[in-house]
Amino acid sequence: MSNVVSFSQVLRERTKSSHGDSEGATFMDDLVKGRGTREDYISLVVQHYFIYQALEAATERMMNDAIAASFITPKLTRLPALEADLEFLLGDDWRDLIEPLPSTAAYVARINEVGATWNGGFVAHHYTRYLGDLSGGQIIRTLIQRQFGFETNGVGFYLFDEIAKPKEFKDTYKEQLDAVNWDDAERDRVIDEVVRAYQFNTDVFNDLARAKASSTNVA
Ligand code: HEM
Repeated sequence: MSNVVSFSQVLRERTKSSHGDSEGATFMDDLVKGRGTREDYISLVVQHYFIYQALEAATERMMNDAIAASFITPKLTRLPALEADLEFLLGDDWRDLIEPLPSTAAYVARINEVGATWNGGFVAHHYTRYLGDLSGGQIIRTLIQRQFGFETNGVGFYLFDEIAKPKEFKDTYKEQLDAVNWDDAERDRVIDEVVRAYQFNTDVFNDLARAKASSTNVA
């Protein structure tokens, strides 16, 4: 059976170009190549806050679902770290200073929708964000720390204190994906939802780039 391609491998293959689109979005590319500003980074943290607020509220709702529950662990919870990062980056009144971009609002609406109704869709969004944070997120953290002189304050979102070995965690997560008894049609739907999740992330990056361009023009 060793030559049988697992679901997690198929998922990864079929979403590779979507990953490339997210990774290659100009806003992200600029940020990781040192062409972004501290303000750009903060704008990204702000959008993450709204996204994880929705994702982690959906997580609370999905805890009673047997399939979703196998992926849920407090080790992944990011919202407290995002709150601490925003307090550090924007100050005590950070809650009054932030708002979601239209693309973030659309992303949040979709997370809320599937998070209330469809375990496979929830897992798709959970996978896209958290496995990304444990992969490319770790590269992004190092670059941001270096560029802006952050130690841990401001980049807490990328620090998973309870996950010492991201690679092992990701491998176990993938074994769990492979173990779910989804039929082929449901697996296809989950893959489509991951593609959609990547698209939401790309849209957010493009929106951030537009917001940046328009504020630069005003100034
Ligand atoms: C500059 C931005 C990014 C970089 C440099 C980057 C880089 C990477 C790298 C190196 C991996 C590891 C591949 C492996 O395990 O061999 C990875 C995996 C992954 N990334 Fe990204 N990434 C970026 C942006 C994103 C974004 C925006 C998302 C989605 C929100 C994302 C989601 C994922 C996911 C879900 C995986 C795991 C794929 C799998 O093995 O199943 N990444 N990324």
